[in-house]
Amino acid sequence: MSDFKVSGDIARLLRAAHEVIAHAYAPYSGFPVGAAILTVSGEVFAGCNVENAAYPLGSCAEAAALGVMVSAGGAQRLRAALVLTAWPAPSWPCGGCRQRLQEFMEAEAMVYAVGREGEPVGMPFARLLPLAFGANDLAPRSS
Ligand code: THU
Repeated sequence: MSDFKVSGDIARLLRAAHEVIAHAYAPYSGFPVGAAILTVSGEVFAGCNVENAAYPLGSCAEAAALGVMVSAGGAQRLRAALVLTAWPAPSWPCGGCRQRLQEFMEAEAMVYAVGREGEPVGMPFARLLPLAFGANDLAPRSS
């Protein structure tokens, strides 16, 4: 990812995540999350978690960010995602959201996790979801 503008792009993602986490609807868990994603064409989209009194119907911030991207007609290949949580230590995306991200992440894409304190910690997406199931698995093939 030689053309990845590390500090500038992470700063943009962080700013977007900070803006959106303010809208998180997390009255049941008390765990607000903001997610921001960066497309290959340089667009940033963000979303927050939205909980529900019927607990399993709540949705994650990453799902919201992806929904915003698709709804906006934005580029659908991602270079990076950042997850901001309101507690001091960072948290990585849940298993379901790793699979949601997998749908759109470039092979070399990065995920950043950041809590209320400290700097974003980066991890190649492939390390978060090795041997991922994806569109290629659905393509007809001989073996
Ligand atoms: N949550 C996210 O938004 N993203 C994740 O990757 C993990 C969990 C939300 C869901 C729920 O609203 C709260 O965090 C506690 O699980």
